[in-house]
Amino acid sequence: MISNNLLTVAYIVASAFFILSLGGLSNPETSRRGNLFGIIGMIIAVAATAFSAQVSGTGYGILVATLVIGSIIGAVLAARVAMTSMPELVAVLHSFVGLAAVLVGIASHLEHKTFASPTEKTIHEIEVFIGVFIGAITFTGSIIAFGKLRAIISSKPLMLPARHWLNLIMILVCVFLGYQFLTAENALTPLLIMTGIAAVLGVHLVMAIGGGDMPVVVSMLNSYSGWAAAAAGFMLSNDLLIVTGALVGSSGAILSAIMCKAMNRSFISVIAGGFGTDSSSPSGQTPQEPQGEVTPISVEETVHLLKSARHVIIVPGYGMAVAQAQHAVAEITKKLRERKIEVRFGIHPVAGRLPGHMNVLLAEAKVPYDIVLEMDEINEDFPETDVVLVIGANDTVNPSALDDPSSPIAGMPVLEVWKAAFTIVMKRGMASGYAGVENPLFFKENTRMLFGDAKKNVDAILAELIR
Ligand code: TAP
Repeated sequence: MISNNLLTVAYIVASAFFILSLGGLSNPETSRRGNLFGIIGMIIAVAATAFSAQVSGTGYGILVATLVIGSIIGAVLAARVAMTSMPELVAVLHSFVGLAAVLVGIASHLEHKTFASPTEKTIHEIEVFIGVFIGAITFTGSIIAFGKLRAIISSKPLMLPARHWLNLIMILVCVFLGYQFLTAENALTPLLIMTGIAAVLGVHLVMAIGGGDMPVVVSMLNSYSGWAAAAAGFMLSNDLLIVTGALVGSSGAILSAIMCKAMNRSFISVIAGGFGTDSSSPSGQTPQEPQGEVTPISVEETVHLLKSARHVIIVPGYGMAVAQAQHAVAEITKKLRERKIEVRFGIHPVAGRLPGHMNVLLAEAKVPYDIVLEMDEINEDFPETDVVLVIGANDTVNPSALDDPSSPIAGMPVLEVWKAAFTIVMKRGMASGYAGVENPLFFKENTRMLFGDAKKNVDAILAELIR
């Protein structure tokens, strides 16, 4: 067993590793190291807690059993999950954190601890109440987010009449229950009723958000789960849990703010559930249907256009991830660059299904970092570009976001690929993207559609290029 002093030192070291881990994860080049720091921090944290004075006798049996079961479930899930389903896994993991905070809170209340002063007791009860409140919202909100990402639940926003009032009433009732909880003796009932209401609030907040805006919701829930963990840390008087929870909570909030900015959404309205509109489109009008004809292109013609280009931009999206086409795309890039053609990548902040999805895939395929540019860095260069290759991207290159105020994605900045001389869109058919919105890009005069599986087509382009 280790002393309390040593435990504190171990917790400080683990916290430092977690901070280094976050620092590392902010850049693709250092992200592997960041992950390693996180793993080391977690090993130190778990080992120090297991050997602390808080665990003894039968506690070891329970601890080992739960660790083994949890590790097996985690390892199997992580090994099996496809990269494209990662947000679903993350949503489920957030729900576990929320549920844990609820259970810790209720258990902590049932423990009937003795306190040095009434103030200390009140502070503890406030911690329990807030922890359970955030935990319950996170738990059910994350389950709904999982359902929407999995398409088990419709991605359409649920717009109940007077929904904001409904949210406000639920919050006010929770505040009233909080008062009862603090003033009554052994007040389990108000705590349990509040848990139920917070659970309904979590469902309602996330149901009100449309499919296209789910990335922001997932990162918001990530932040909530951090705060729920921090609250559990206060209840258990565990400094490391407080620090770790605060790190997750604040980094999740920062990520949400960045994503809100990228999608031109208001941060406050995400927290309030929905974006302050009463229809699936921000303006409440019916979106325009794109009209015209599409112009298909063959692999040979695509290669001809590429070979005669001087500046090429590749815009990958979810379809490239599904098709696992990134390695062949990297090869095409290499071949074009050998021909002295400038090739760069334009990455939309919410391309794919998780933050940094495209960056991870391109890094895995060893595409040099310096030619992978963020939307803001490359968006002005499209008019001087000869050919844009859009590989499995759709919502993130949809012009209606800019010129149709009735579109559900109106206001979201997009990669303005249609400004290039030629835009070649690679996808299997005319299906819409994640947000379920028609895309007028496909009907533009300078757009060419290369239909088929992205992997099959990039392989064919590569074969034609080296022929
Ligand atoms: P999407 O708009 O989802 O479009 C992907 C396109 O890829 C589809 O239209 C599909 O058309 C095509 N596709 C699918 N499989 C393919 C294959 N094997 N080969 C070729 N094409 C294939 O993609 P995006 O532009 O990357 O936008 C991302 C969307 O997901 C945004 O709406 C975003 O808000 C949302 N989202 C993002 C995140 C994060 S954090 N990135 C998380 C959740 C949701 P076909 O079926 O016709 O082939």
